[in-house]
Amino acid sequence: MKIRRLQLDEMPPYDLLLLADPSRELVETYISEGECYVAEENDNILGVFVIVPLTKETMEIKNIAVCEDKHGQGIGKKLLQEAIGVAKSNGYDNVEIGTGNSSIGQLALYQKCGFSISGVIKDFFIHHYDEVIMENGIQCKDMIRLRLEIQ
Ligand code: ACO
Repeated sequence: MKIRRLQLDEMPPYDLLLLADPSRELVETYISEGECYVAEENDNILGVFVIVPLTKETMEIKNIAVCEDKHGQGIGKKLLQEAIGVAKSNGYDNVEIGTGNSSIGQLALYQKCGFSISGVIKDFFIHHYDEVIMENGIQCKDMIRLRLEIQ
């Protein structure tokens, strides 16, 4: 499996991107502001991440997703490590990522990769999404912000 930057003339893998973020509008906005990378094996795209500059010092991973039939095989961790590498090689000091209060597996993965909780945006998913989002039997309301210092 290799991870590479998506070329400008390639169609982003929306099926995967929408697994991580149900808003096509938000996805299109941050894809246009950042860099999209894909994990690929035998011409099949298995995973994706999008990273964008947030401030002069910080990049944010806006989207990370792996094909549902490939979950739990370490691909998400490899994508996260690659995203951290992209931020490092561009001279940024921090990487941030935000996820829902109900995203138990994602919160586990990000903390296993060294991220620490840096804040909570109360009711973010209530204000920014039309539909009620349920996960693990929990309503997704708040955005948990996590940060990793890399320099
Ligand atoms: N408790 C403890 N650890 C857990 C749990 C849990 N409930 N769930 C997952 N984990 C751990 C696993 O044990 C594993 O850690 P390990 O390597 O130490 O065993 C790690 O989390 C999962 O690692 P990977 O196998 O590398 O992850 P995967 O390839 O399955 O990708 C991802 C993770 C990207 C979150 C995938 O599940 C996915 O695509 N989900 C749907 C889209 C999504 O929710 N994306 C994130 C939204 S937030 C954002 O995009 C900014």
